Amino acid sequence: MLQVFTKKQFLKDLLEDFVDIHNHILPGIDDGAKNIKESINLINKLKDLGIKEFIPTPHVYEDFYPNTDETIGDSYFKLLEALKPKLLSSIRINPAAEYMMDYNFEKLIEDKNLFTLKGNYVLVEMSYFQAPINLEDIIFKIKTRGYIPILAHPERYPYYHNNKDFYNKLKQLGCFFQLNLLSLTNYYGKHVEKTATYLIDENLIDFVATDAHNKDQVAILSNLILNKNQKTLLHSIIENTKNNFSIL
Ligand SMILES: [Fe+2]
Repeated sequence: MLQVFTKKQFLKDLLEDFVDIHNHILPGIDDGAKNIKESINLINKLKDLGIKEFIPTPHVYEDFYPNTDETIGDSYFKLLEALKPKLLSSIRINPAAEYMMDYNFEKLIEDKNLFTLKGNYVLVEMSYFQAPINLEDIIFKIKTRGYIPILAHPERYPYYHNNKDFYNKLKQLGCFFQLNLLSLTNYYGKHVEKTATYLIDENLIDFVATDAHNKDQVAILSNLILNKNQKTLLHSIIENTKNNFSIL
């Protein structure tokens, strides 16, 4: 019998010179890297995955991580000081933020005081329990102030799993979608994995990112094997992410 051996396709084979637009590598300011040592370790592991440009996105979430320009700036400069010149010269790190769409965020929009990923793109998230009751208003505000919203991990909000029309509605309102690469596994649960597949198949995903908080997550990503369909669809999303956010 003829046996056909096909080479396994690892996710990391698609990530050469990738720009990671969502991660928690800055030390000591949210639920990501706890200190500089963890940050450097995480950066090295992500670099081994193929990532060359990092846009760290600490949570700005009034109730749990009340970060500001100052806390993000301090953490960023501490990290830069600690990085060896050789490592620093082979990567780019330029911080932004992941904004919880809470009351504090609405004030920051009004002051036009947001960290952007690049250009006018702003990364936003919602609670995993419920969407903000004034979600449409917030998106409208973001847009009227000249920003472009990117919703972080749309596949991770359980209240949308059985209400998929909301995804189309958010897109109509002008939201871009960023999928977490870990959602291609059952790391966050099988409903998230299923929704991730749905969103990719429906061409609703614009960008991907690691959303890495720790090295265990990166280890899962480095072993992730894609099927042929995933490979084709992800390839174009990865290229789109690079084309929009890489500056190297
Ligand atoms: Fe995140």
